[in-house]
Amino acid sequence: MNEVAHRSVLLGDTLELLGVVEGGLYVDGTLGWGGHAAEVQRRGGRVLGVDRDPHALAAAAQRLGPDAELHHACFSRIPELLAGRLCNGVLLDLGVSSPQLDQPGRGFSFRAEGPLDMRMDPTQGESAADWLNRVGEAELVDVLFRYGEERHARRVARKILAHRELATLRSTRELAELVADCVPADGRIHPATRVFQGIRIRINDEVGELERALAALPACLAPGGRLVVISFHSLEDRPVKQAFRALCGEDSPRDLYGRPVVAPEYRLVERRARKGGDDPNPRARSARLRAVERLG
Ligand SMILES: C[S@@+](CC[C@H](N)C(=O)[O-])C[C@H]1O[C@@H](n2cnc3c(N)ncnc32)[C@H](O)[C@@H]1O
Repeated sequence: MNEVAHRSVLLGDTLELLGVVEGGLYVDGTLGWGGHAAEVQRRGGRVLGVDRDPHALAAAAQRLGPDAELHHACFSRIPELLAGRLCNGVLLDLGVSSPQLDQPGRGFSFRAEGPLDMRMDPTQGESAADWLNRVGEAELVDVLFRYGEERHARRVARKILAHRELATLRSTRELAELVADCVPADGRIHPATRVFQGIRIRINDEVGELERALAALPACLAPGGRLVVISFHSLEDRPVKQAFRALCGEDSPRDLYGRPVVAPEYRLVERRARKGGDDPNPRARSARLRAVERLG
């Protein structure tokens, strides 16, 4: 995999919010093809990189060289990997990368024929096909509705269950065709977009991973250190926004002068999310970038 296969989203803004200092330790929890991490190194930061995808990790290792400390792991394990060290910044650039989406063999894309896999880490856990061939109707409807925000979740679930009576579901194209048969096309996105998103989030426990990371990562920061998160849809951005507000005491009781009764340990670096709307990279269009800083 060459190093330009994934174009890093909001690269300049992200590095600006991370505020890299020479010799500081920066954790990239979603290393991908190492685009953000390479820029951290270029600015003099030391990188501890994490990715659950062994292919991404191998590509990043080539790009970053031996100075980077790399781990094949989920980002919820960062506190354990830091083993008591505090860091100057943590970056999470959520979701999947372009190379993951573009390789038919990974099973993330409804546009190409491939095995229905969708695991970011193909060495662990259950593939989308295995899950879809055993899941009950109520759970399937719930996943498609909550994680895919698919209005026609019930209809799609019934279609999948009816197909299962006849044959095992194996490929991305089969699933995309089943969905296209029962979800009306709206002309903007492929009818299977939401269903694929919902299943991917469930297979990789993306919501649970983000919750665990948001609870644990702020305590890994040294004073002045920043946690920076790039999200791509409301299921990601909402918990990030809420967790950051809570950390900064935004919703805590205030005294007569409007000051929080308990002094917060963190501050929002900026009140509003930076958006990727103007970025020439089409993946960046829905991106939201937020940062929180540990106070001294
Ligand atoms: C959008 S890409 C990151 C791209 C990277 N910032 C760059 O510039 O090349 C997201 C990466 O995070 C990884 N990932 C997603 N969720 C993860 C998790 N919970 N733990 C570890 N890695 C994760 C994916 O495997 C993917 O390689």
